[in-house]
Amino acid sequence: DWTMAEFRKTKIAEIREQVGDGKVICGLSGGVDSAVAAVLIHEAIGDQLTCVFVDHGLMRMNEAEQVVTLFRDHYNIPLVHVDAEEMFLAGLAGETDPEKKRKFIGKAFIDLFEAEAKTIGGADFLAQGTLYPDVIESVSFTGGPSVTIKSHHNVGGLPERMNMKLVEPLRELFKDEVRVLGRELGLPEVFVGRHPFPGPGLAIRIPGEVTKERCEILRKADAIYLEEIRAAGLYDAIWQAFAVLLPVKTVGVMGDGRTYDSVCGLRAVTSTDGMTADVYPFDAAFLTRVATRIVNEVKGINRVVYDCTSKPPGTIEWE
Ligand code: XMP
Repeated sequence: DWTMAEFRKTKIAEIREQVGDGKVICGLSGGVDSAVAAVLIHEAIGDQLTCVFVDHGLMRMNEAEQVVTLFRDHYNIPLVHVDAEEMFLAGLAGETDPEKKRKFIGKAFIDLFEAEAKTIGGADFLAQGTLYPDVIESVSFTGGPSVTIKSHHNVGGLPERMNMKLVEPLRELFKDEVRVLGRELGLPEVFVGRHPFPGPGLAIRIPGEVTKERCEILRKADAIYLEEIRAAGLYDAIWQAFAVLLPVKTVGVMGDGRTYDSVCGLRAVTSTDGMTADVYPFDAAFLTRVATRIVNEVKGINRVVYDCTSKPPGTIEWE
């Protein structure tokens, strides 16, 4: 893509100019934006960049491993992997309020990130994968529960506290453009095409208390759903698709026995920026196939429902 090739060249020059021989630290979330920002910055300044991946243990199936493999082994980018699953689960124990879950995760994330930054000797710059809609949203967003939406990734307050300047090479881009740039930079398609994932991860897809067991149940159901979506060739036509695990038990029947297990909700929407969204119109046979697989293969779920709510009035996530 000619435009993105130009953009890449221009940004690399800008990053070199801005950073000089300073040190840059970049938080990876596992998502496309921070990955593209990191690879672009690495291309500009090499090992002056260190990436920190604070792994809260609330990622989708296998995704944390993919991040580590891609950055460390494939790109050879210095990467600190902070495995903090236990710490996050301990902090979330007993918490059922969506905003408190978000707040805890955001704060713990920043604390761990800051501690790591100190360990590696500090940095002059903080790199972020802020996109154009994030820039807009932070000044004029009027939605419901997502007012603090980017508080997790865009570590507000931290740059000042640590006396760091920001490097945000994607500030003028929309999501689809970031994907084009990611391909231009040679990022693998599974990474570039990946659906957006919220900073607080599975914690906001498990209404009620988050436990390790419930994370594992949800991860399995979500993986089956995404596998079927990919197999049907629908993945790229959908903005986000995911499973949620509801804090509701219902009665079911399996073999000769009665079951009493959790309900799984399925969500899939089309959108261009996440601000508004339409329900993806799967055909009934597809949904039935996914529901049958989930109930048969995932212990702890005995019923599956499909979320038919557009945004607005619904939000994309359930919390
Ligand atoms: P909602 O649920 O508000 O989501 O319609 C809009 C988009 O934002 C993502 N999202 C988040 N991203 N931290 C994030 O980094 C959050 O707390 C958060 N909440 C929602 C959501 O996945 C969707 O793409």
